Amino acid sequence: MNTLPEKDFTNPRAQHGFVGRTCSIVSVGSYVPEKIVTNADLERLVDTSDEWITSRTGIRERRVAAADEFTSDLGAKAASRALEKVGISGEQVQLIIVATITPDMTFPSTAALIQQKIGAVNAAAFDIEAACSGFIYALEIGQQFIMSRTYETVLVIGAEKLSSIINWKDRNTCVLFGDGAGAAVLQYRPGSHGLLTACMGADGSKADLLNMPGGGSRCPATVDSVNAGLHFLRMEGKETFKNAINAMNAAAHEALARCNLDIAQIKCVIPHQANRRIIDAVGERLGVRQDQVFVNLDRYGNTSAASVAIALDEAVDQGIIQRGDLVLLLVFGAGLTWGAAVIEW
Ligand code: ACO
Repeated sequence: MNTLPEKDFTNPRAQHGFVGRTCSIVSVGSYVPEKIVTNADLERLVDTSDEWITSRTGIRERRVAAADEFTSDLGAKAASRALEKVGISGEQVQLIIVATITPDMTFPSTAALIQQKIGAVNAAAFDIEAACSGFIYALEIGQQFIMSRTYETVLVIGAEKLSSIINWKDRNTCVLFGDGAGAAVLQYRPGSHGLLTACMGADGSKADLLNMPGGGSRCPATVDSVNAGLHFLRMEGKETFKNAINAMNAAAHEALARCNLDIAQIKCVIPHQANRRIIDAVGERLGVRQDQVFVNLDRYGNTSAASVAIALDEAVDQGIIQRGDLVLLLVFGAGLTWGAAVIEW
């Protein structure tokens, strides 16, 4: 029986046979490495300027992990913080899903490495790869396990050490990215609608816009592939930029429509933190007020799958998001992939 309180929005899952078992984010946590790399630092590496980076992207500094600090370390720290906040032990976690494009190794999964680091001895663990959209994809996957009553506690993590795949001699990309991790603990919380909907999409015909050609089965590592720089992230910035605005805008409209919501009812919009101009353009098309949008890319740059997870944690920490508020997450990344999720916090 559906015992949820009536709200001024529609729960789309209820329309599809939902019977009262919802999935909520009961805690969030994040971690960024200590080392700060400022735009001034990058001026010494490539032909760029603080003025160019700030005006074209909004980014002022980013975090870079230490040589002996890996994606699993960042993810484990974010996860531990999320678990501690809500008093859940590692042993209670039943599933770990990690979204990343910078796994410690191609295999085993970074999720398995995190499982060991946080003592989640009872958890199954796997990675998913949807680039910067990974956190929403992982949330939606995790939600399925809670709603189906397969698991009581699922840990979803977005973690990246992008500094490991950045060509620090390429000014087109090296100024944009940073390292970090964010985590969310998913459980059923009685009386809460939780994750209302997630619209996800992909367009593989545009895979060439943003990729890392080397290291996979198509182009295994050789001396030639390394010398040709094929193990670095590559991006056609302008086309990616246009696609990001269109895809996030369309996904947001679809997610809001599914819930019968007007953008004005959303307390906080958390967009993928790639570029301030993308965020502003999407915000303008959606008709959001400046004070509805959470932005922290000035301090972290684009942390890919970790981006919205870190931002969500900071928005909650700062008291911007309170229980019962409606939150809209928007993501976009390589694939291409994109997504929008509406959450009753
Ligand atoms: N410093 C100085 N000049 C630069 C720099 C730099 N760091 N980078 C590029 N330029 C130059 C270019 O060489 C170009 O010079 P030219 O005209 O002489 O050729 C000029 O600046 C303009 O370059 P554009 O690429 O046209 O600049 P644009 O305004 O498009 O901004 C940017 C580039 C910031 C990359 C933008 O296109 C962007 O943000 N794209 C989207 C990125 C994104 O959203 N990624 C999301 C997914 S990431 C993931 O999934 C991992």
